[in-house]
Amino acid sequence: MGSKIAIMGAMPEEIEPLLAKLDNVSEDIYAANTYYEGSYNGQEVVVAYSKIGKVFATLTATILIERFKCDMLLFSGVAGAISDELKVGDLIIADGLCQHDLDITAFGHPHGYVPEGEVCIPTDVNLRNIAKKVANEKKLTLKEGVIATGDQFVANEERKNWIGTTFKADALEMEGASVAVVCSALNIPFFILRAISDSADMDAGFDFDAFLKSSAQISADFILSMVDNIER
Ligand code: ADE
Repeated sequence: MGSKIAIMGAMPEEIEPLLAKLDNVSEDIYAANTYYEGSYNGQEVVVAYSKIGKVFATLTATILIERFKCDMLLFSGVAGAISDELKVGDLIIADGLCQHDLDITAFGHPHGYVPEGEVCIPTDVNLRNIAKKVANEKKLTLKEGVIATGDQFVANEERKNWIGTTFKADALEMEGASVAVVCSALNIPFFILRAISDSADMDAGFDFDAFLKSSAQISADFILSMVDNIER
C-alpha cells in the first residue's frame, strides 16, 4: 500500500505521543508550521499538527500530500461524544465525515451540503479493516460511525443533539471533514481516529482539559499499531 504515511493531529498534545516513538526525526518548517519527518519501525512517516479548526486542517493535509508526497493520511486525536455508548477514553473511527456548520439551507440544500460536494465523505475501507484487526488483537472496543466536524467547540447539549440527529453522527470534532475533503479530492486513502475527551455538554470544557492528554495518548498508541499493520 503506502510508502510514506502522513500522521496528523490538530494540537501539540495529539502528536507528542507519536513524536516520542519516532526514529531519525528531522524538522521542516513550511507555511508557518513544523513537519516532522522520521520513521516508525522502519516505515517512513511525516507527522504534523495543524492547529485547531477546518481551515488550518485543510492547509496541513494539503501540504502533507502535495509537498511531502505522503500517499496515505492517518489522523489521530480527541473528540466529543454524541452517542451515549461513547465514554471518555473510548475509540471511534469515522466511516464518514460531514461538516455540521456548513449551511446553505436558505437555497433548499440539506445541512452540510454544497453543490458538487457530498454531505458525508467516506473514509478508506482498507484502513478501517486494518483498524478492526488491530482492535481485535488488542481486545479494544472500536466504534465506527459518522464524525461531524465544525469550527465550534461544542459544549451544549442542544447543539450536540441537533448534530447527532441531523447527521446521524456519533462524535464531533473540528478537523476531520477537512482532511476528508482534501484526501478525497487528491485520491489519497485516509483514516480518522478519535478517542473521546468529553461529551460535548456543559462540562465539556472542563473534561477536555482534564482528558486531552490521556485520550490523545490512547489514540496515538492505536495509530502506531496500525502503522505496523499497513503493508509497505
Ligand atoms: N474535540 C473534543 N471535544 C470537542 C468538542 N466538545 N467540540 C468540538 N471539538 C471537540
